[in-house]
Amino acid sequence: MGIICMLLFSFFNTLPAIVIKYLIDPLQTEGTEKIEVISFFWVGVGIIALFIFKGLAYFGQNYLMNTLGQQLIHDLRNRLFHKLIYLPLSYFHKMTSGRLINRFTTDLNIIEQAVFISITGPLRDFPQVIILLCVMVYRSWQLFLIMMIALPIAAFLIGRFSRMNKTIASHRMMKYDDLTNTLTEVINGIRIIKSFNMEEKEVQKFNDINARKLNGIGLKLSEASIAAYRVFKLDDERNLIIENRKSTPLPLFEKQIEINISNFAYEDTTVLKNISLTIPFNQTVGLVGSTGSGKSTLVNLIPRFYDLKAQEGSIKIDGYDIRDVDVFSLRRQIAVVTQETILFNDTIRNNITCGLEVGTEKVEQAAVHAYAQEFIERLPDGYDQYVGEKGYSLSGGEKQRISIARALIKDAPILILDEATSHLDNKSELKVQQAIDNLLSKRTTIIIAHRLSTIKKADIIYFMKDGEIVESGTHQELVSSDSQYRKYYEIQFES
Ligand SMILES: Nc1ncnc2c1ncn2[C@@H]1O[C@H](COP(=O)(O)OP(=O)(O)OP(=O)(O)O)[C@@H](O)[C@H]1O
Ligand SMILES: [Mg+2]
Repeated sequence: MGIICMLLFSFFNTLPAIVIKYLIDPLQTEGTEKIEVISFFWVGVGIIALFIFKGLAYFGQNYLMNTLGQQLIHDLRNRLFHKLIYLPLSYFHKMTSGRLINRFTTDLNIIEQAVFISITGPLRDFPQVIILLCVMVYRSWQLFLIMMIALPIAAFLIGRFSRMNKTIASHRMMKYDDLTNTLTEVINGIRIIKSFNMEEKEVQKFNDINARKLNGIGLKLSEASIAAYRVFKLDDERNLIIENRKSTPLPLFEKQIEINISNFAYEDTTVLKNISLTIPFNQTVGLVGSTGSGKSTLVNLIPRFYDLKAQEGSIKIDGYDIRDVDVFSLRRQIAVVTQETILFNDTIRNNITCGLEVGTEKVEQAAVHAYAQEFIERLPDGYDQYVGEKGYSLSGGEKQRISIARALIKDAPILILDEATSHLDNKSELKVQQAIDNLLSKRTTIIIAHRLSTIKKADIIYFMKDGEIVESGTHQELVSSDSQYRKYYEIQFES
């Protein structure tokens, strides 16, 4: 219907060029005194009617085409979000949040406007040009000839100009990314900015990004082609983890996890090397080592947050290479308390369940085990209390206890605790530890901790240094030999 309205608009828009002849011609040929007033009247009425029809067609095409544009963008936005949420972690490390946010906001808005222009261009304006050129040939071939010389020159100049403008537009849009990024960083880091009196510096930085020469002319189509390039580049991003999704789900874990890594690097520098360890079902494994030794990296490979390349080694669960099984069935069997506590701007309950369909009783049970029940019940809205963005309304230890409850409620056979109790005081830690111990009977657990009291009871402790496992044994074995672990332990014991 939009297209019909456009064609009608073109028709009504070109018609005056033909009709006007009947108004002008009598003046030229016959002399004023002989003109019949009545014919002028009808031409006038005709022109008014034409403009009314033209207006209606214009409204119709605008309304319908804008609706179409909005619908297209709506679908594209959903599709893009679906793409984004399944992309591997490594993608989020190489893209800044500003760039990603702008794909969804400015870029899509620019494309939305351009959908209208790029459809109206060929469908509405092009037929008009053809019709008007025909009228011109018919009326005055001289005028047509002049036009034929001028048109290519104009087309050449417009082409040059739009290429130039595209470069400028591309720079401008990259600046927008930087602006959005600075803004999100400032909002997230406002406490540090204030405590270090960084306000003026940040203002200066923002002004610098927001300045310069790059204003140019906002040629919608050149901007839109860049925006479309950026949006579809994200849409084309390959997701090997999902693409290689095999239909075999990982059966319920019951034997062992075998980790064999010859070399692993995020980019160029080796982070893990010569690692070979087997974690039997039902065991508790402790990972200790100095900061940056690769503990978090090692455990992050198990749920495939990062993928080992074929030549880098493999991780097998009950003999299944984790790269060959359905990634969702793998992740279903692993509960993680990440080193950095992550809460959503939602209620405590939803932060604990994280989308799992579980009853209130289970939520409260998990909270009791995570030693969180007490503080939650003191909150005005209890489990329905909103925690604010990133959980800003809770203390560090409170946040951590919620993330422990979240891992416990998942009731997965493999539990990974990366510094899960580091923000708790000794008494709370002991309680959480006891609760976890009670739950651990049918669970395989990997615990990373700097506080050695946390992992003393592990069945086996691995000591990591510079990406390698340099010592292993029980706490007793390690402290009774001349080990690096023992030195670690003595330093803590002294303090
Ligand atoms: N996403 C990443 N990209 C590149 N390098 C990374 C990334 N994450 C960690 N690294 C690097 O890998 C090394 C190991 O980091 P990892 O987080 O595994 O250490 P860790 O033993 O957990 O340390 P900590 O005890 O401080 O938590 C570090 O040198 C770190 O700089
Ligand atoms: Mg770590």
